[in-house]
Amino acid sequence: MRNPIPVAVAAFLSCLSTGALLAQVGGPGRDAPRLKGPEPFTRETPAPPMQRQITDDVRRRRNYPDQPPLIPHSIEGYALDLNANKCLSCHSRKFTEQSQAPMISVTHYQDRDGNFLGGVSARRYACLACHVPQTAAPPLVENTFTDMDALTVPERRSR
Ligand code: HEC
Ligand code: HEC
Repeated sequence: MRNPIPVAVAAFLSCLSTGALLAQVGGPGRDAPRLKGPEPFTRETPAPPMQRQITDDVRRRRNYPDQPPLIPHSIEGYALDLNANKCLSCHSRKFTEQSQAPMISVTHYQDRDGNFLGGVSARRYACLACHVPQTAAPPLVENTFTDMDALTVPERRSR
C-alpha cells in the first residue's frame, strides 16, 4: 500500500493551488479589496508601517446600542491568557473603584442561557475577540455605514 501521508499532502497542495487559480480568474474572491496594493503577489514588497493606535482616553460613541465599545487607551503589553487577564484588573466589578474604569456590563456575567454568574463568563474572557483599539489609518474599503439615527424620523434623534 502507498504511504497515505504524501498522498494527503499532495491533495492538500492541489486544493491550495486550485484556490489560488480560482482567485485569479474570478469566483468569490474576485471583487475582494487588493490589500497588498498594485504589486503582483509574486513580488515581495516591504510591509507598510504599523499604524499608531488612538490612545486619547476619549470613549467613542457606539454605532448601535449593543456594539462592543472600542478601546480608547493603550493595551500594549497587557497579558491576556489562561493565567492572567490584565483587562479585568481594571474593568471587573471588584476593581473599578480603584481604577475608575467603566465596569464590564452585566452581559459579561451571563452564560449563554442568560443565567447570571458570580464571575466573568468564559464567553467574555477573551476581551479582544470583541473589543478593539482604533488607528487613524485610512479605510481600506469604502464604508457606507449609516447611523440609525439618520434613518429614523428627526424627532427621535434627540433621544
Ligand atoms: C489600568 C486600567 C485599565 C486596564 C488594564 C484596561 N483598561 Fe480599559 N479602560 C480603562 C479606563 C480608565 C477607561 C475609560 C476611558 C479611558 O480613560 O481610557 C477604559 C475604557 C475602556 C473601554 C471603553 C468603554 C466604553 O464604554 O467606551 C473598553 C472597551 C476597554 N477599556 C477595554 C479594555 C480591554 C479589552 C482591556 C485589556 C486589553 C483594558 N480595557 C484594559 C482602564 C483600563
Ligand atoms: C463576545 C463579545 C465580548 C467579549 C468577549 C467581551 N465583551 Fe465587553 N462588551 C461586549 C458588548 C456587545 C458590549 C456592549 C453591550 C453589552 O454591554 O453587552 C460590551 C460592553 C463592554 C464595556 C462597556 C460596559 C458599559 O456598561 O458601558 C466594557 C468596559 C467592556 N465591555 C469590557 C470588556 C472586557 C474588559 C472584556 C474581557 C474581560 C470584555 N469586555 C469581553 C462584547 C464583549
